[in-house]
Amino acid sequence: MCGIVGYIGSREAYPILVKGLKRLEYRGYDSAGVALISNADQQLNVYKAKGKVSELESFVESKDISGKIGIAHTRWATHGEPCSANAHPHYSSSETLALIHNGIIENYAVLKENLQAKGYEFKSSTDTEVLVQLIEYIKVTNNLDLLTAVQLALQEVIGAYAIAVVEKDHPEQIIAARKSSPLVVGIGEDEYFLASDATPIVEYTDKVVYLNDEEIAVINRGEELKIVDLHNVEITPDVKTVVMNIGQLEKGGYPHFMLKEIFEQPDCILDCMRGRVNVEGTNVVLSAVIDHKERLIKAKRFVIVACGTSWHAALIGKHLIESFCRIPVEVEYASEFRYRDPVIDEQDVVLAISQSGETADTLAAVELAKSRGAFIYGICNAIGSSIPRATNTGSYIHVGPEIGVASTKAFTGQVTVLTMLALTLAKEKNTISEKEYLEIVQELNHIPEKMKQVLELNKQIAELSKIFTYAHNFIYLGRGYSYPVALEGALKLKEISYIHAEGYPAAEMKHGPIALIDAEMPVVVIATHNGLYEKVLSNIQEIKARKGKVIAIVSEGDTIIKNIADICIELPTTLECLDPLITTVPLQMLAYHIAVCKGMDVDQPRNLAKSVTVE
Ligand code: G6P
Repeated sequence: MCGIVGYIGSREAYPILVKGLKRLEYRGYDSAGVALISNADQQLNVYKAKGKVSELESFVESKDISGKIGIAHTRWATHGEPCSANAHPHYSSSETLALIHNGIIENYAVLKENLQAKGYEFKSSTDTEVLVQLIEYIKVTNNLDLLTAVQLALQEVIGAYAIAVVEKDHPEQIIAARKSSPLVVGIGEDEYFLASDATPIVEYTDKVVYLNDEEIAVINRGEELKIVDLHNVEITPDVKTVVMNIGQLEKGGYPHFMLKEIFEQPDCILDCMRGRVNVEGTNVVLSAVIDHKERLIKAKRFVIVACGTSWHAALIGKHLIESFCRIPVEVEYASEFRYRDPVIDEQDVVLAISQSGETADTLAAVELAKSRGAFIYGICNAIGSSIPRATNTGSYIHVGPEIGVASTKAFTGQVTVLTMLALTLAKEKNTISEKEYLEIVQELNHIPEKMKQVLELNKQIAELSKIFTYAHNFIYLGRGYSYPVALEGALKLKEISYIHAEGYPAAEMKHGPIALIDAEMPVVVIATHNGLYEKVLSNIQEIKARKGKVIAIVSEGDTIIKNIADICIELPTTLECLDPLITTVPLQMLAYHIAVCKGMDVDQPRNLAKSVTVE
């Protein structure tokens, strides 16, 4: 939540900052702003606008946007409504400092009261303005340099922050710091970049330093990058090389990132399996499982912590690991787990699933489980992000940057890794027969091809979506492996079309949701030949008896449901445990096309952000 960018070097900063903000808009798009120290007269100019980065671009037309140093921000509102006054950067009272912030200063109210008592006035209702005023107060009263003032101010702060500060009279320096919110420094030729993740940086340099908690980057033009802690102890920067293809950050001819990412899935699954499934398609090895097999095998149970779509993938992971490895698995919302004083100890293995690797609740759940001695295994997408760095081991899903706010390819990537994890561990534990193992691995290899067949249904799904733009509610039903898919289908629809949607285990429908069914109610039922087909068939009959509109997701060649359902989407058959990799795709397309028909902003739905770094 909130994206931050910074630049210092010999180029004009503004174009780099704005391009960077656009790459980070997935983190929030309530308002945007930029601070630049101008070339001619060394003014500290701050420009801000409510809305997306494009609004900021219009706002700065005819303004002085010169400057070879600058910081910029795209906001997801926490404290204070989205408006220009609450947008970042925030000036200090004297307007000699400007600061951007991602995170929450939890003790801002007390700090604000103290500063107000000293005569400080505030122009916004944000927690961030308190921090810049505090830095100025400490700096002025003690006659300190900016770095020392930042260090002292941060010692008073409770909460999460990634910040960058510039000072009018020092156009050669940016001070940046992080705690619990991500921050990356890019090292170019005589220039430095700063961003919430590497995506705004990769087209200029592949050398990056991921800051750790309570580290401060002292970025001086023409000097080596210096990293210190809050007490000024110097830390040697750990320079990493990032590999990212710029094409992955563009829409590549698709109208939306979400559609592009839906269509990328066959290739993503191949990338995810590359080097893990052998070319003959007979063996799967997830190296982290092999490296830690003793620890994983002796686990009393697995606990999976995640949020949102990743939590739905976790539910599928539970099925896979319990079925094949015979290890009990619990699935927890990270936000509940972390505050519940859970029973967890060194005999447990905790799997943390997160696309961004930055979700605050999942990270906190990891830290809690770690402090109780559990072994932590991460399943993440964003390389070098906070969760993989906090875990004992893990496996990346390798699906490339996901930019659409509604997660698609990350979900199928997570399910693929969970499948490979369950298979690798089951083989080591001897809890799967050779025959079944081989059958699943071979079929896993066919999934990308079968996904491509599903994507060919795009036109059909776009057409049928037009019928359902009237709907205010949707129900999604599934059983077994298809129940989490129903949850995920419902989540996709509500996120981007603002239609209320409920996912339910099909058999539970008669314990409540059936009361909602009438001729207006569309019900999406996942009813492939796998699992409890006959039972789901009865559930469909119950819906039709009450005149509900059934959209059935069925296996190719199904003749029975075709005669009962209003609409059938026919999918290639696969094994039951791999069904979610196939059945999720048409639900993603359905949500996408309904939202497009309704004229919604698919990639940037209201109120949402892709990376939730606040609680
Ligand atoms: C937000 C995003 C979702 C995502 C969830 C968890 O709500 O909008 O798409 O599933 O966070 O994010 P994570 O990065 O931890 O998977």
